[in-house]
Amino acid sequence: MSIKVPGYGLVLLAVSQATYFDEEFLDWSYFKLFNEKKYQDETVDAVRFEIFKENRQYIAQHNRKWENGEVSFRIDINEYADLLNHEFNEMRNGNDQNGRSIKGSTFIPPMGFTLPENIDWRSLGAVTPVKNQKYCDSCWAFAAAGALEGQHFRHTGNLVSLSEQNLLDCSVSNNGCKSGLASRAFLDIKKEGGIATESSYSYEATQKLCRLNNATFGASDTGFVQLEFGNETQLAIAVATVGPIAVSLDSSSILFHLYHSGIYDNPLCSDTNLIHAALVVGYGTEKGIDYWLVKNSWGEHWGENGYIKMRRNAGNQCGIATKAVYPLL
Ligand SMILES: *[C@@H]1O[C@H](CO)[C@@H](O)[C@H](O)[C@H]1NC(C)=O
Ligand SMILES: *[C@@H]1O[C@H](CO)[C@@H](O)[C@H](O)[C@H]1NC(C)=O
Repeated sequence: MSIKVPGYGLVLLAVSQATYFDEEFLDWSYFKLFNEKKYQDETVDAVRFEIFKENRQYIAQHNRKWENGEVSFRIDINEYADLLNHEFNEMRNGNDQNGRSIKGSTFIPPMGFTLPENIDWRSLGAVTPVKNQKYCDSCWAFAAAGALEGQHFRHTGNLVSLSEQNLLDCSVSNNGCKSGLASRAFLDIKKEGGIATESSYSYEATQKLCRLNNATFGASDTGFVQLEFGNETQLAIAVATVGPIAVSLDSSSILFHLYHSGIYDNPLCSDTNLIHAALVVGYGTEKGIDYWLVKNSWGEHWGENGYIKMRRNAGNQCGIATKAVYPLL
C-alpha cells in the first residue's frame, strides 16, 4: 500500500502497534485479575508478563491450525499461562516414576464381551466434582481417591467424596506433596482400614501430621488390580465393566498445560515419561477419532470443565494404558 502523505504511514503504524500492545496488556491485566495473581514486585511482574506474551503467541499459532482443521484440539490462556513449561512440570504433577513399583492382582477381562461404543461414568453417577491439587505434586492421591470413589459407588450405590489430604498425610509409602503412586495408596488404605471422607478431612495442599480417625472413614479397599501394560483394549474393557480407572500419563507438554477443548493428540507424547496421574472415567469417538475421557485434578477452569479428551487407540499415546490400576473392595 502506498501512502502519499508523508508521515501518515508512520502514524498508522504507531497506532496499530499501540493497539496490539494494549490488547496484550489488557489480556494480561484480565489474566491477573481473574486468576488472582499477585507478584512480589514489578520485576517479577515484568518477567511473568514476558512469559505470558510468549505463551499467548504460541496459543494463537496453535489455534490457527485448529481453525484450519489441522489439529484436533484448542489451547487457551488459563491460570498457568504465566509459567514456563518446566516450572509447571515441577509443581503440578507428582507421579512417582523412580520409586518402588508393586504388583497388583491381574485383571481378567470377561469372556466374549462386546465393548460399548462409548461410556461416561459421570452420567452414571460414579464421579465426584473436579478437584484441584493446587501447587502440590499430589496427583497420585487424586487419581487413587477418584478410582476408589467409583468402586465404592458401584458397590454401595453411594457416591462419597474421599479425602486426598488423608492420603497426603497418612500414606506412608508415598511422598506427600513430592510424589506418589495410586497403587501404593490403595495398599496403605487397606493397612489403615479405610480412608476419610473429603468433608471430614479437607484438602490443604501441603503435607501435615496424619489425623486418621476411623469414625470418619468413607470407604476402604482390600488391594488393587493392575491392567496389562500398555494394552488399550484391556483399559477400555476395564472402564466399561469396572468403572473409573487410575492411570499414569505424560502431561509434560505445554500443549497439555494450556489444553482447552477437543481431542488432545500429541504424537510427540512419551509412553514412558509418566509424570502425572489422573482418572479415566470413560471413552468415545468424535469425528472419527477415538478418545479417552480423563478427569484431571487441576480445577474446573482447566480444559473442558476440568476434563481432557485424550487420543485413544493411537499406540498407547502419552502412556495412558501403561500403568492402569483400580482398587479392590
Ligand atoms: C476404631 O479405632 C478404635 C481405636 O483404635 C478401635 O478400638 C475400634 O475398634 C475401631 N473401630 C473400627 C470399626 O474399626
Ligand atoms: C490386550 O488385551 C486384550 C483383552 O484382554 C487381549 O485380547 C489382547 O490380546 C491384548 N493385546 C495384546 C497385544 O496383548
